[in-house]
Amino acid sequence: MKIAIIGGSGKMGRWFASFLLKDGKEVIITGRNEKKLLEAKQQLGVEVATNVEAVKNADVVLVSVPIDNFEEVVEQICPHTHSGQFIIDITSIKVSPVEMMHKHIKTGVVLGAHPMFGPGARDIINQNFILTPTNEEETALAQKIREYLEARGARATMMTPNEHDEMMAVILGLSHFIAIVSADTLLSFDRLREMEAVGGSTYKVLLTLVGSVISEDPEFYASVQMNLPKMTEIEELFQRSSETWANIVRNKDRQEFVNRMNILKNRLEKGDLDFRKAYENMYKLAEGL
Ligand SMILES: NC(=O)c1ccc[n+]([C@@H]2O[C@H](COP(=O)([O-])OP(=O)(O)OC[C@H]3O[C@@H](n4cnc5c(N)ncnc54)[C@H](OP(=O)(O)O)[C@@H]3O)[C@@H](O)[C@H]2O)c1
Repeated sequence: MKIAIIGGSGKMGRWFASFLLKDGKEVIITGRNEKKLLEAKQQLGVEVATNVEAVKNADVVLVSVPIDNFEEVVEQICPHTHSGQFIIDITSIKVSPVEMMHKHIKTGVVLGAHPMFGPGARDIINQNFILTPTNEEETALAQKIREYLEARGARATMMTPNEHDEMMAVILGLSHFIAIVSADTLLSFDRLREMEAVGGSTYKVLLTLVGSVISEDPEFYASVQMNLPKMTEIEELFQRSSETWANIVRNKDRQEFVNRMNILKNRLEKGDLDFRKAYENMYKLAEGL
């Protein structure tokens, strides 16, 4: 099976190229910057091509380009896709990329997918994938991909592109926002190095969250913030909650603080959230630092 990775010279593209090669697939990669593409060719030991050549000769096309370049790539490759071919995108947003694929790609089956891990992942085992089929043909493809991923130890969940984006607004959008605002706040303090040295697990988890976002490409985080639905409402909700808690502290209203915190604890424990597991994971994360 021949798999073309559009944007294969990028971080996620290289990750998938390396994984698919180890899995015995024939891989061909593309990218815009020639120097970067040749570097990736050498590093991975794969063939390189233009987007059009790669698509013409592939059984499966994986589109791994930034959200902001997605439509131009789809417009460029759409005259060259063929029947029996699968075109899968891995952008972190699903509504608009899936709409763009439906609008432009008329031959072949398209599918929206989102790997819920970054290029630093060591293995596919226990990694989550979200697949967003929108019709019977796409669901049949998604089922095949789910079986393929599960046979290799990963997990795959199907949902609509809309459900995906609404969940990602909280999972990615809110988490990234908290990390960026926390980084901004931390920089108001001196002696950060000393605090890092003496800090306990909770502080280490905060630094891990901040570091995991701030060390990455700002363009990617900007695209996620600007493209996910209802980000402004979610961030305003967060601001209002921050204000409420800050007021309780400002007023030194100890009883109100304890009552509200107990309410949160009970609601989280009664809800679907596996609170204990999240707590154990936090410790594992902090101990691993
Ligand atoms: N990073 C993550 O943690 C993560 C996780 C899950 C999903 N994703 C999704 O994966 C996709 C790729 O992300 P990434 O982190 O790998 O970004 P990246 O490192 O910037 O890679 C993007 C690649 O796309 C190439 N590209 C851009 N325009 C192109 C075009 N017109 N033709 C051919 N190649 C083109 C770039 O080539 P040049 O550099 O030469 O321009 C680069 O190789 C994004 O949609 C992102 O939302 C990312």
